[in-house]
Amino acid sequence: MTARIIDGLAVSRQIRAEVAQRAAALTARGVKPGLAVLLVGDNPASQVYVRNKVKACQENGLHSVLEQYPATLTEAELLARIEALNADPTIHGILVQLPLPPHIDAHKVIETISPAKDVDGFHVASAGALMVGQPGFKPCTPYGCMKLLESIGCDPKGKHAVVIGRSNIVGKPMAMMLLQASATVTICHSATPDLAYHTRQADIVVAAVGKRNVLTADMVKPGAVVIDVGMNRNDEGKLCGDVDFPGVSQVASAITPVPGGVGPMTITMLLVNTIESAERAAN
Ligand code: GUN
Repeated sequence: MTARIIDGLAVSRQIRAEVAQRAAALTARGVKPGLAVLLVGDNPASQVYVRNKVKACQENGLHSVLEQYPATLTEAELLARIEALNADPTIHGILVQLPLPPHIDAHKVIETISPAKDVDGFHVASAGALMVGQPGFKPCTPYGCMKLLESIGCDPKGKHAVVIGRSNIVGKPMAMMLLQASATVTICHSATPDLAYHTRQADIVVAAVGKRNVLTADMVKPGAVVIDVGMNRNDEGKLCGDVDFPGVSQVASAITPVPGGVGPMTITMLLVNTIESAERAAN
């Protein structure tokens, strides 16, 4: 079997077009959706990420504010800035780029963001809402993975989904979203003794570990759908995922490539969350 390639760029483009329409409709009603992006320090990867987030806002009719602070910014100063943005009616989403410098407690920072503006979906209130199936912002990367499954008509209901990875940003919320969609969910992680035993039973595998070749062809049931959240570099310095793409694409029925799979969806879902926040504020 040669797997269908799930085109994250195409899905992303379609959702962004819908975002742009909703942004235009809101703007016509006098509510321009606004996202504040805060970066502390000069992590080069973070600088690229925040620039891409601001660019995506500009391209789709959202207002964005990029605030860059030196690594010497104190925790109290950052918290005060977040409080001010919480109270700013022109801002509907607040994103503090992670990682933060070690003297700043990321948990405290996230908990200071108003859940109504927590477009990253990292606040404990957002995580709790997802857990109990209440409305709230969903973390962008797993939310994007759900949209990719939807794009190929893959309904998780009644399927066995195996999530590899248990991070708060991807693995855990991914498992919750799949459960909410009525999949039977297994979460595997670094202490799982026999990963292949689990993945071989999966109809859907989501790999979110951050390590190359975590999932190889012999670990995949023929016809499974494989979503690769990994962003790694191979020996030649080329971007690659957690999945052995050449091998697994011979066994799976559908698979996301890296790049061009999950990657573009993260920022897209950030735009969706920001629009939703603005729509709630406008109604
Ligand atoms: N650092 C890496 N990914 C993310 C993300 O999705 N949101 C934030 N705030 N920081 C990140």
